[in-house]
Amino acid sequence: MKRKKDYYYKKAKKEGYKSRAVYKLIEIDKKYKIFQENIYVLDIGTSPGSWSQYILNKYKNVKIVGIDLIPPSINDNRYIFIKGDINDKNIRETLSSYKFDVILSDACPKLTGIRDIDDMRMYELLINVLELLTICLKKDGSAIVKALQFKEFYNVYKKYKKIFRFCKIYKPKASVKRSREIYIICKRKRI
Ligand SMILES: C[S@@+](CC[C@H](N)C(=O)[O-])C[C@H]1O[C@@H](n2cnc3c(N)ncnc32)[C@H](O)[C@@H]1O
Repeated sequence: MKRKKDYYYKKAKKEGYKSRAVYKLIEIDKKYKIFQENIYVLDIGTSPGSWSQYILNKYKNVKIVGIDLIPPSINDNRYIFIKGDINDKNIRETLSSYKFDVILSDACPKLTGIRDIDDMRMYELLINVLELLTICLKKDGSAIVKALQFKEFYNVYKKYKKIFRFCKIYKPKASVKRSREIYIICKRKRI
């Protein structure tokens, strides 16, 4: 596990990415073809910024809104940062006037080690992200949403499946094997 972490960490350093997390996105994009030119993207849990960095490097005509509790160091006029918590209703209301082609969420709640509390936090986050997908994602839009598997996960996943024609769970190779981390890949939003 350590060797694998080192491998992606070193690779990110060598290739100038802000985080090893980028290799999960690259793998997902390669397999599911999420991005293209002329898209508007919401990047939830954007810091330190490697996911947005990948999209900005690969496409010329893209616009990204990044949101996080901590600011990233991205200086690009195609990128706007909003400092805030996605679980905050006011932040979600601010975003509700936007319409995105793609919504990403690599956010993970602060874990306490107490399973019931952590599961509840993950549930809350996934439901709030789902609210944004419902309101702010265009018809036929795509999403990638990180989750930690927990007891109620499949009940939440069913809610995601309802609003997309294509919905799959995927664990990238760059994700630590023994972690509960997975990604929900969503394409072709119904309405
Ligand atoms: C694993 S990092 C994301 C890495 C990012 N995708 C990248 O490529 O650099 C998770 C981020 O989610 C943010 N985060 C966690 N909970 C959040 C919340 N409720 N609202 C906004 N951001 C949150 C954290 O501050 C952290 O920066």
